[in-house]
Amino acid sequence: EEMALVTNVCEYEELAKQKLPKMVYDFYAAGAEDQWTLRENSEAFSRILFQPRVLVDVSCIDMSTSILGYNISMPIMIAPTALHKLAHPEGRFIWNAGELATARAAAAAKTIMTLSSWSSCSIEEVNLAGPGIRFFQLSIYKDRNLVQQLIQRAEKAGYKAIVLTVDAPWLGRREADVKNRFTLPRNVMLKTFEGLDQGKIDKTNGSGLAAYVASQIDRSFSWKDIKWLQTVTSLPVLVKGIITAQDTRIAIECGVAGIIMSNHGGRQLDYLPATISCLEEVVREANGRVPVFIDSGFRRGTDVFKALALGASGVFIGRPVLFSLAVDGEAGVRNALRMLRDELEITMALSGCTSVKEITRGHVVTESDRIR
Ligand code: FNR
Repeated sequence: EEMALVTNVCEYEELAKQKLPKMVYDFYAAGAEDQWTLRENSEAFSRILFQPRVLVDVSCIDMSTSILGYNISMPIMIAPTALHKLAHPEGRFIWNAGELATARAAAAAKTIMTLSSWSSCSIEEVNLAGPGIRFFQLSIYKDRNLVQQLIQRAEKAGYKAIVLTVDAPWLGRREADVKNRFTLPRNVMLKTFEGLDQGKIDKTNGSGLAAYVASQIDRSFSWKDIKWLQTVTSLPVLVKGIITAQDTRIAIECGVAGIIMSNHGGRQLDYLPATISCLEEVVREANGRVPVFIDSGFRRGTDVFKALALGASGVFIGRPVLFSLAVDGEAGVRNALRMLRDELEITMALSGCTSVKEITRGHVVTESDRIR
């Protein structure tokens, strides 16, 4: 059958919805409870407008940037999301599926991929994608030995940073997963936990994955344990899931290498504000000491530009990767990244910015500017 030309990343969500089993689509798409934050994540961008400069020579736009010292082609990177192999229900391209396909697309786009610890390809398998800059997302488990083993494997496999997720000591209630009794199909495994007894996953009670993970995550993990983490790895640690200036201050005192602002794509605490609405506050607190990155709801090059204008050093995307992977595998993710890249390019050109450094606070107007 002929597929209509996809012209923006949101269209992949519709196509993925048609293609994926309901249980998988819902798992990828859902937010927590009322899904207010999920909606707000996209609506908040519509309250930020542009203030472009004209008559600038925009014949050449350079989107490249440097992240923790690594040069990438654009300030758009891949957020850690669980279980990419669920995107291939037919199991046809299983040898080149899931996170491996995503990693190939990221490398082709010369950008960074963050591998989730709940991945369906192992840390080492993802390296079959060849060279590429990759970060490893970590949650802290009760078994610190396991945590150390994960870190060592990531280091050995050449991953460049640890992304410590701090907004999910308890897993948010995504009611669709509960209703669907979300379970893993037999051909998809949490590869990172291979060797652990995955038979423990409870298949009858609500979300099996939630039950399993909830039983492994260390809910007592707190700021003092960041110090411990830094003693067991030489990799830079980024904390993902901060949205306040207060926590930014503590994180910097703890010596983190950067902040990733996130509300987990609306999947954890509902009624959190959109991250873009809190960005300036966090950037002000960080005051250039560490880079501030951001995710949750980024679907357009204009969204990315807005974050850069408000002080972010880069943006991560979650669901657009999963949905484009579901529709067209590696080629889909490549295309999603290309469309975002092209959109950022034209936004920069029409705003009069020829490089990422030229994007300033003055290029956007927020609600607080209008009140003043
Ligand atoms: C996630 N996210 C996530 N975060 C994390 O630290 N570890 C993980 O394993 C996962 N898994 C995961 C699965 C799925 C299906 C989704 C949609 C999200 C959160 C993710 O890193 C990121 O914060 C959000 O996806 C960003 O929001 P958008 O771009 O999806 O709106």
